Amino acid sequence: MTDLSNETVLVTGSAGFIGSHVSAELLRRGAARVVGVDCVTDYYDPRRKRLNHQQLVDAFGDRFQAHEVDITEQEQITGLMRDAGVTGVVHLAAKAGVRPSIADPVGYAMANVVGTQSVLSAASACDCKRVVCASSSSVYGNNEKTPFSEDDSVERPISPYAATKRACELIGHTHHHLTGMPVAMLRFFTVFGPGQRPDLAISLFLGKVSKGETINRFGDGTTSRDYTFVDDIVGGVMRAYERIDAHGYRIWNLGGDHPITLNELIETVGRVVGKEPVINEMGMQAGDVERTWADLSRSRAELGYAPSTGIEEGIERQWAWMQEHADLVLA
Ligand SMILES: NC(=O)c1ccc[n+]([C@@H]2O[C@H](COP(=O)([O-])OP(=O)(O)OC[C@H]3O[C@@H](n4cnc5c(N)ncnc54)[C@H](O)[C@@H]3O)[C@@H](O)[C@H]2O)c1
Repeated sequence: MTDLSNETVLVTGSAGFIGSHVSAELLRRGAARVVGVDCVTDYYDPRRKRLNHQQLVDAFGDRFQAHEVDITEQEQITGLMRDAGVTGVVHLAAKAGVRPSIADPVGYAMANVVGTQSVLSAASACDCKRVVCASSSSVYGNNEKTPFSEDDSVERPISPYAATKRACELIGHTHHHLTGMPVAMLRFFTVFGPGQRPDLAISLFLGKVSKGETINRFGDGTTSRDYTFVDDIVGGVMRAYERIDAHGYRIWNLGGDHPITLNELIETVGRVVGKEPVINEMGMQAGDVERTWADLSRSRAELGYAPSTGIEEGIERQWAWMQEHADLVLA
């Protein structure tokens, strides 16, 4: 494992679901400091995000710094990176929901496209050594061929969110080309586990099924997703951070490698909470893709990425976390 003891890493989106896990893991693995930046949007309960920051401070003291700053404020970001002596960046801040992006394409373009350019430009101004960025499986759109490979065409995104994530990949390539800075783009496939965003299906279903409430099933339940447990994603982020220097610019899929249908997911949630789900059948939602499934050949070969937590175990761990934080997530 690479020695991180000389690294001060900027993590954007540090108060969010994946960012809080990544920040903790960098510090557990010995990074000198993590500088967390998150403007704490109200997309979901800001108390959850501030609790994430507080828990990082409680666990790691002044090795974790929290800044409530918007990433589009480039001068401010550059200033705090310079002051902290940031050596590398894990950029996870974004407006992250697919469906809400249809109603707010300009907001998504600002946060995701302008925000990513702002972070990359700040990284250059501070002579950072490398940047790892979150992209998304949504860039594959309604790709017919499965599993989805990094070499597949991604010219047809079907939501503003997906289009912004593809734009970030292209901006990252340009940045690498012009500056020589190593840039990794990670295509995450639906991430779940403790702390999962409340707008995502597993969180929503666990909450509603446990209370005996009806859940909305969009489509006939045959759509499928390659769900990925958050610890596996974090492992992939760490490996990308350690290995991107050898590649320059690289896109890697990070998936779970076991796609399941929506119907199977609902059954699993029912088993985990011990209740029969009550389903309200709805039409397909605009912007939703039919299926996702990551081809992991490249990330296995080049990162040694090997997801190890299956769907049922992962949902059990997420459910345990939700019960522990019932006041915030099940109220
Ligand atoms: N969760 C998934 O299934 C999934 C899948 C694919 C890609 N991703 C990507 O992974 C990253 C993290 O996602 P997440 O699920 O943890 O979402 P999240 O919403 O929990 O975290 C994102 C954080 O970014 C912050 N943020 C948003 N706009 C900002 C801005 N302008 N300035 C500063 N902070 C800002 C939010 O306050 C939030 O805390 C995102 O880039 C997302 O697009 C997530």
